[in-house]
Amino acid sequence: MIKMEKIFMPVFLICCLFFSAESCKDSNHVPALYVFGDSNVDAGNNNKLKTAFKANVTPYGIDYPGGLSASGGRLSNGFIFVDFFAKWLGLQPPPAVNNVDLNTTETIDGFNYASASGGILEDTRFKDNENLYMGKQVSMFKDTVEQYLPKHFKNKTELSNYLSKSIFVVSIGANDFIFNLEMNMAPRIPNPKQISKFSKKLLKHLRDYIKELYQLGARKFLINEIGAGGCAPQLYLMNKQQPGGCDRRTNQELVSYNKHLAPEIKKWKKVTQKLIFRTHENV
Ligand SMILES: *[C@@H]1O[C@H](CO)[C@@H](O)[C@H](O)[C@H]1NC(C)=O
Ligand SMILES: *[C@@H]1O[C@H](CO)[C@@H](O)[C@H](O)[C@H]1NC(C)=O
Repeated sequence: MIKMEKIFMPVFLICCLFFSAESCKDSNHVPALYVFGDSNVDAGNNNKLKTAFKANVTPYGIDYPGGLSASGGRLSNGFIFVDFFAKWLGLQPPPAVNNVDLNTTETIDGFNYASASGGILEDTRFKDNENLYMGKQVSMFKDTVEQYLPKHFKNKTELSNYLSKSIFVVSIGANDFIFNLEMNMAPRIPNPKQISKFSKKLLKHLRDYIKELYQLGARKFLINEIGAGGCAPQLYLMNKQQPGGCDRRTNQELVSYNKHLAPEIKKWKKVTQKLIFRTHENV
């Protein structure tokens, strides 16, 4: 298990993706944090969706300042990691964009688009539960850039300057293994070739979404490796082979995805020349 945790830990800070290193200078001030992903970082976007994957009930939020009504649907007793990150940057925890009245709010500290049970692929879902997959999250961010943000900046130059200094957290992918039909063929026989092929497919889609964000003005990305999703409480409960234990099969798949992530980012780097990476794996 210690080995597993090691594999799951690294986080990649990709600065100025698809762009020159010059724009990384003068980047100490981070004006906003934008969040994309799944239940690890969802701040309540699923509250109004038809889904069982929401956390606007007790005991969620019991340790959040202001309790459940203030935690707003975070799948946590308190703050989630992007909230701590935001506070560290001197920003407000990014609110779930679905729960904000964009006509009246004034914040330019960033928004959260993440959705529990969502994945990189559109058809990743549990039965007929609704969620916001990565493509939907990106299109919601596009609306933010085109409709909300221009009201808060004097001109386009100011807006793109703001976006280029903001940080974009992307924490997604586990559900594509847990809830995707392509992978969830019963019985789930471990097949390294199939897992590898599927991981590459996911990363190809992820690359396209990162490019879209780039085209909308994003320049700094923090991309997570996937956590040990096989240790989610639900998978504990469903684990018949080893009751009360993590689902090893799922974790093996996620490790495979994580192994592909760094080489894939290296490829993105080749395409974009002066891309800067910060990771303790030294990509
Ligand atoms: C926000 O304003 C738009 C345009 O005026 C309107 O169509 C929309 O219903 C408003 N949204 C809310 C939540 O009031
Ligand atoms: C945009 O606004 C800033 C701040 O008011 C100003 O310095 C700059 O010249 C403006 N740029 C354009 C292209 O209008």
